[in-house]
Amino acid sequence: MNLRHANPLFIQATDSEQNARLLSEAAVSMGITADVVVDVDPGGHRTGITPGQPALALGQLIDQLPGLTLKGLLCYDGGSQHVKGFAARREQTLERLLGATDTFDLFNSSGLNTEIFSGGGTGSYNIDHETRGLTDVQVGSYVFMDAQYMDIGGADNDELYADFVPSLTIMTTVLDDQYPGRCTTDAGAKACTINRPWPRVKGETGMSYTSGSDEFGTLRYEEEPSRTYKVGDKIELIVSHCDPVVNLYNHLYAVRGERVEAIWPIAARGMST
Ligand SMILES: Cc1ncc(COP(=O)(O)O)c(C=O)c1O
Repeated sequence: MNLRHANPLFIQATDSEQNARLLSEAAVSMGITADVVVDVDPGGHRTGITPGQPALALGQLIDQLPGLTLKGLLCYDGGSQHVKGFAARREQTLERLLGATDTFDLFNSSGLNTEIFSGGGTGSYNIDHETRGLTDVQVGSYVFMDAQYMDIGGADNDELYADFVPSLTIMTTVLDDQYPGRCTTDAGAKACTINRPWPRVKGETGMSYTSGSDEFGTLRYEEEPSRTYKVGDKIELIVSHCDPVVNLYNHLYAVRGERVEAIWPIAARGMST
């Protein structure tokens, strides 16, 4: 509630009566009115109340509680975002949003506010519009992209999801080149995480990269690598998964062409939750 106190545009999501009551108490004690949406479970049981009557009852409670304004509902289906293949992803995404659509209808027929019905993500941004009533697509990763998303395939290309250009890279330096077929870099698990698939080497083909060692990365040449590297050479890596990488660094270097145009401090540096 401190965040809402500082920023009137901040909207909170809740999926339980207990939490809704706590939000209400906090808002009242601070003398503010906080905007709230009901978080509806798409079936993954990570967060979100069960769609239908349980979600409706929670919406009705929030609508009555002092200090809260019900703005609608959200249903983020993280489990569908990385389904490989556009047809399979479309089928799962639409099927798993049906419960939220029913809830949206119940809200409407009960006179509850549905000005927000938020869902979707980078993997389903071009599918979500098929869900009736959806007002927002909660994309985030598209800004950076990563190897995980590149692997899911797009509507026109089964092998590569190329709708968004990857912008987040890690600059690593070659430390050792003495063994054939490979070289060692200074970006391992601590720099890249051990998420899979492994990082991709930006702009090159015929090589693969692993970041499983704590401090060291390994680049292996495959057949006909587009180039080879010597000690001191720089390698730009497209990150495996953007979300848990950004907070490993102090700064983002914003580059256009060959020029660093800005250096942005990372406010979430070191924050692991
Ligand atoms: C609740 C929620 N909304 C939106 C997003 C962003 O989704 P994407 O990374 O698919 O763009 C996330 C990502 O973790 C999320 O947890």
